[in-house]
Amino acid sequence: MKRSRLIILAILAALVIIQFIGVDKTNPPVEASKEFMTLTNPPAEIASMLKASCYDCHSHETVYPWYFNVAPLNFWLKGHVRNGVKRLNYSAWGDYEPKKAAHKLEECYEMIEENHMPPKSYKWMHPEAKLSEADKAALIAWLKEQEAAIRAKL
Ligand code: HEC
Repeated sequence: MKRSRLIILAILAALVIIQFIGVDKTNPPVEASKEFMTLTNPPAEIASMLKASCYDCHSHETVYPWYFNVAPLNFWLKGHVRNGVKRLNYSAWGDYEPKKAAHKLEECYEMIEENHMPPKSYKWMHPEAKLSEADKAALIAWLKEQEAAIRAKL
């Protein structure tokens, strides 16, 4: 057999084998008493924007899409969820000290203002996560209000 054909076969075999590794798709339980929405009670449109644009990577309510079953894509996507939730976890909002919570809120609107979040690659696959200019303005204003309310009590 030609060497190039062997290499292609080896790559295909490797792709088949990594399909069996699998990544964990279970969500840790969500405690309502620590959950961002329970604690901040946002208007419905703000809540649905955050859920659609941020919660897959920044909470324990990740919805794993069908292509999450395809390796090596799933390793890369799981990395997003793991890193995202480590930096900002709406499911553990109640664990943040007020000063940290205020700082996280500030980071949230900065990320939205600068179009860093939600990430571009995420928006390709989740058109519903895209925020219009009006959406962004509403979200940023609400996040700033929350931050100011916390800082006023510091
Ligand atoms: C596809 C997954 C994904 C989505 C969706 C997503 N993020 Fe992120 N986010 C990440 C990852 C990964 C990081 C850490 C690495 C980085 O900064 O790129 C991060 C970092 C952050 C940080 C920085 C926290 C810190 O401590 O530095 C903030 C704030 C943030 N995201 C807010 C948001 C907000 C607000 C939304 C929704 C509008 C959102 N993200 C949507 C994956 C995501």
